[in-house]
Amino acid sequence: MRTNWKHNELIVIFILTVTIFLAVFVWGLGLFTDIEEEPYVSEETDRIVVGVSQLGSESGWRTANTESVQSVFTTENGYFLLFSNARQKQENQIKAIRSFISQRVDYIVFAPVVENGWRTVLQEAKEAGIPVIMMDRKVEAADQDLCVSWVGTDSRQEGVKAGRWLEGHLRKEGVTEEEDVNIVVLTGTEGASSAIGRSMGFAEVAHKHANWKILEEKCADFTSAKGKEVMAGFLRKYPDIDVVVSQNDDMTFGAIEAIREAGRTVGVYGEISIISFDAVHDALEMVADGTINVDIECNPNQGEYLSQVISMLEKGQEVEKDYYVEEDIFTIDNVTEEVLQERNY
Ligand code: AHR
Repeated sequence: MRTNWKHNELIVIFILTVTIFLAVFVWGLGLFTDIEEEPYVSEETDRIVVGVSQLGSESGWRTANTESVQSVFTTENGYFLLFSNARQKQENQIKAIRSFISQRVDYIVFAPVVENGWRTVLQEAKEAGIPVIMMDRKVEAADQDLCVSWVGTDSRQEGVKAGRWLEGHLRKEGVTEEEDVNIVVLTGTEGASSAIGRSMGFAEVAHKHANWKILEEKCADFTSAKGKEVMAGFLRKYPDIDVVVSQNDDMTFGAIEAIREAGRTVGVYGEISIISFDAVHDALEMVADGTINVDIECNPNQGEYLSQVISMLEKGQEVEKDYYVEEDIFTIDNVTEEVLQERNY
């Protein structure tokens, strides 16, 4: 009798263990899935169904860009939004786009994490008759014919603006063309059109100045942690850095931390000049107090433009291939209290 009881106890313990194991496994799968569950599109919806594949949430700028899109594609505005965050992985974006195609959305909007590798999935969207609009970044030139339009910022021009600012700054400081200017560049995600454009634009200006020495360009993924790590490496390697070009504000925050930890000073009153991109609120505060010399704006408010493109397409109107959002340049001279108050990201 006692032996039977023990046997039953063992079976109960076994079943419990297997159940707990399965429960933890299923929960774990959810935690590690890189793609967010999208809501199911109801067949009866008379709203415009838009599938948005955002590339990630790597920066303050990206959060603002997501908010801009989500605040426009709302029920009140007549939209049904399917939103997916790819967490920096192209394969997640491809999965999301395929899921939008199979749900027969009306439009696909996506911010391509890198330029290359989209042809097949864009072809699938075209064959399904779903117009694709790029936002922020672009796919490579050869595949752009598969997208109806693009809304974003002129990243090459942003790089040129950075170079032109440096020309003016050096002139004001009385630095002659005979004196070396040692520059390091923190670049964004490898293969991203915004990083490629900024590097290209800055190089166009740099090539005109034989004394501008680009000591090294290194990828820091558009994140603060990587910006700090890469900058610390630059400081160990190059004792005479004059200028840091950091392709977004998040990397700039990390880089400034590394520079200060190395006992060096930055900005308008310091040894190392800082050129940044994006112009988010916290960075503009640092421009106002002289920590960052110049911030080249990259405008994340693209939702309104996207919605306008869609309403034109809905009316059967022709749309442009490219829509550029407006952008400014910020230095200590034009970051007023008003600018800071208005900047809500
Ligand atoms: O593609 C735009 C860039 O991506 C922004 O400069 C950066 O902050 C973001 O991560």
